[in-house]
Amino acid sequence: MPIATISDLRLPAKRRLPSFVFDYLDGGAGNESGLQRNISAFDDIQLKPRMLTNIEERDLSTTLMGRKWSLPFGTAPIGFCNLMCPGAEQAIARAAVEANIPCILSTAGTTSLEKFKEFAPENAWFQLYVSRVLEIADDLVKRADEAEYETLVVTVDIPISARRPRDIRNNFSVALSVTPRFVWELVSHPAWSLATLMAGIPRFENMERYTSETAAKPVAGFVSSQISGKFDWDALKKLRDRWKRKLVVKGLLSTEDSVKARNMGCDAIVISNHGGRQLESLPSPIDVISEIRAAVGPKFPLILDSGIRSGEHIVKALAAGADFILIGRAMMFSVSALGVSGAKTAIEILSDEFSRCLAQIGYTDIGSLKAAAPIIRRR
Ligand SMILES: Cc1cc2nc3c(=O)[nH]c(=O)nc-3n(C[C@H](O)[C@H](O)[C@H](O)COP(=O)(O)O)c2cc1C
Repeated sequence: MPIATISDLRLPAKRRLPSFVFDYLDGGAGNESGLQRNISAFDDIQLKPRMLTNIEERDLSTTLMGRKWSLPFGTAPIGFCNLMCPGAEQAIARAAVEANIPCILSTAGTTSLEKFKEFAPENAWFQLYVSRVLEIADDLVKRADEAEYETLVVTVDIPISARRPRDIRNNFSVALSVTPRFVWELVSHPAWSLATLMAGIPRFENMERYTSETAAKPVAGFVSSQISGKFDWDALKKLRDRWKRKLVVKGLLSTEDSVKARNMGCDAIVISNHGGRQLESLPSPIDVISEIRAAVGPKFPLILDSGIRSGEHIVKALAAGADFILIGRAMMFSVSALGVSGAKTAIEILSDEFSRCLAQIGYTDIGSLKAAAPIIRRR
């Protein structure tokens, strides 16, 4: 069946992936009300159309942190990315280059930051988790600098690992355990299993050098053990002083924190609740973006993620105050369902929907959309 929407890709992804992998991707914290709200909050916003404007020529490009991008969205960092599809990180990087959008590699990604930069020399950003052992974070920053990353994204919304019920029930951790059920899942999802076995179990290529362990399971355990709650504003200030290029803070949700990050000299922030993966009671970014915009002023770059599943969502987020969007699961459902070709498909669907939505409500570019802010909030 032809793929019409990002939602059409979720069920094929579910069929293709072993359930413990799909649940890792699809699941969230608690009873997942936060995850659901991230998506449904967009339904509570309507778009006010204006008719009889000439919309034949549309410009979907935007400038963020001094660089022009062809579309107002990029791809979010995803830990253990190639578990969903071997070669996913490379495919996402290549698709991002082709579309001229940024792509972000996670510290917990499965491609080394040096290699990822080669896949997307001008588009790659690196996302840093500041590890419990500070020397590791120091070295990651040094490596990102040496690899000439233009943008470092420091994620601050994982002070502690989350309880994700689906992962707990599946006995899933980044350290995969071989149990009878695990074996059954492999056997009953042969396409994924074969592709993964042929490519080799994905490795934490950024982190594995910092442990003497070599087997996949202890390396993965080591990666999890590096989650640390010690990173604070003083440490962020030191990172800001040290990193001379663009610094983005990912995972803020309050006006106070956003203003503080701006005043500290960060170049942008990502308003995000980590896709509902950390705590179900956090606000949805789309519900707080307008108040954060009012607090930080019109010029400070605000990036938004969590719950973006369509081009209309992107229009709403921009109209509500965001400057740029990151797509997480939307991209990962696509590569999980379609394989590496899915990277391009996700970008094509979202950009086509975005362009049509813009036209339908009578705007030809992002500047005029943001200036008019044509949204009605139902609650
Ligand atoms: C499977 C998975 C792994 C993720 N890993 C990371 C990560 O390593 N670093 C990070 O900053 N965010 C990570 N995130 C959060 C995403 O970057 C992004 O904030 C989130 O997916 C946005 O929500 P959405 O999936 O609803 O679009 C992950 C999200 C998912 C779904």
